[in-house]
Amino acid sequence: MQKLIFASNNAHKIEEVRSILSSPYVVVSPKEIGVTSDPEESADTLEGNALIKVRALYKIVQAPCFADDTGLEVEALNGAPGVRSARYASAEHDDKANRRLLLKELSSTPCPRKARFRTVIAYIDEAGQEHLFEGVVKGEIIKEERGNCGFGYDSIFVPMGATQTFAEMCESEKNSISHRYKAVVALKEFLDSNTASEV
Ligand code: IMP
Repeated sequence: MQKLIFASNNAHKIEEVRSILSSPYVVVSPKEIGVTSDPEESADTLEGNALIKVRALYKIVQAPCFADDTGLEVEALNGAPGVRSARYASAEHDDKANRRLLLKELSSTPCPRKARFRTVIAYIDEAGQEHLFEGVVKGEIIKEERGNCGFGYDSIFVPMGATQTFAEMCESEKNSISHRYKAVVALKEFLDSNTASEV
């Protein structure tokens, strides 16, 4: 058994990560071990924010832990909203306002409007070494919202090779190809290879 503390208190995210990082890994949230860590995500890159979160947590727990940060990067907007995806339209997190603003900003950009979701995971191992992992899904931003599932920008994003938006897919389908899935798999492969070399 290898305990990993995940710097998130989003129950949905924790379950998603747990289903990928199954035995011998045991994913624990800060809340479950009575820890509160909520540093300001003040970096201007996904990598920077993931590192801020994992460093703050490691300082408290002194044990293997990881944090993630995700952004939607739109080519015609030079990578925006990117690291500001959650608070693109206003200081308060408002998914609907974010989607509306993005469609407005792209209103004069012809289709296909290339974009990608990118998740970065920062992991600190038992020796205090930092490692970064990435998961990317390329696709495009369509003109009007489609689908009722998911969250964030799901209803305006169609992954490359698909016809449905993320919001038209069932949760398990999205979760098997998503940026977060790919980043967690990259972390898992790293952990697996390190565990194997220790045997
Ligand atoms: P976080 O780093 O996972 O909190 O993601 C930051 C923001 O990116 C979220 O508030 C959403 O707006 C957007 N986002 C992250 N992941 C997804 C996704 O899977 N679908 C749609 N939007 C997402």
